[in-house]
Amino acid sequence: MNFLYKKAPEIVVVGSTMMDMIAYVKRAPSSGETVIGDSFSLGFGGKGANQAVMASRFGAKVKMINTLGDDVFGETTLKNFAEQGIDTKYVNRVPGASGVAPIWVEEDGSNRIICVPGTNFAMTVPQVQSALSEISEIDILVGQLEIRQEVTAAAFAAARTRGITTILNPAPFAPLTSDLLANSDWIIPNETEFAGLDESGRAPDSDSVILDLARSLGCKLVVTLGAKGAAFVENGEVVRIPAPSVNAIDTTGAGDAFVGAFAVGLGLGYEPAKAVKLGCASASLSVTRKGTQSSYPSRDEAEKLLSD
Ligand code: RIB
Repeated sequence: MNFLYKKAPEIVVVGSTMMDMIAYVKRAPSSGETVIGDSFSLGFGGKGANQAVMASRFGAKVKMINTLGDDVFGETTLKNFAEQGIDTKYVNRVPGASGVAPIWVEEDGSNRIICVPGTNFAMTVPQVQSALSEISEIDILVGQLEIRQEVTAAAFAAARTRGITTILNPAPFAPLTSDLLANSDWIIPNETEFAGLDESGRAPDSDSVILDLARSLGCKLVVTLGAKGAAFVENGEVVRIPAPSVNAIDTTGAGDAFVGAFAVGLGLGYEPAKAVKLGCASASLSVTRKGTQSSYPSRDEAEKLLSD
């Protein structure tokens, strides 16, 4: 595959891997209720891994830093990374269970996810510091909150000392420590995470609320808005990028497709609006198919998205 750029972005993802166990059901059960599902699939997931895979589909050179367990999920996840062209030199394995994510997807494509981190929580600060010190070329460092926050924060601090652009996807939401925030260049929450970050718990339903949060965070902010696309703040104003109109059947991992594609856009030197547009196009395509990584644009589709 020949992508239409001279140099592939060098992207490092410090983050999670999960095995996604997705049950498709017309309506999720209430407490104490059992319902009959329509279908089930087992696939590769985890916000970190998903973002790495999306970036790799665009031809970026992607390195993953993660800890897998010594179980069959650890084994198959490593094989998947290799198949996706992702460098796993800094993925280690320890005794224990790899991360898993039971997921319910309802008829309208919406999802509910429980992440059980397993060995994702065995990642350590010295591990990521040592890995990053060995990687000489990094354009973009991407992190999320499915590993211990202190580990993500240490990675972002190391990146800051080298002038590497950092992107934080604060998912699942947790209050951010001041050092992680201080070392984040870009923050990309969805609507739920936005409300968590906002001091008053407000949803991003007006420009003034989005501007308030951008001001209080003190970093560059992109909010993903599902079918409505995404909004970001530039020169003190909110810029909205609409998403292509599609029939959503499974939204699992769409936000990760956005983040991985956006990271590639920044790594290619795109203006934020163009990087956000690439993120929206990638996420929109992903929701038209079932599964997480299995729903992402293929390499051919990614090449086409880059040329659109
Ligand atoms: O963002 C979607 C992802 O969240 C899934 O792949 C699941 O593993 C959880 O990490």
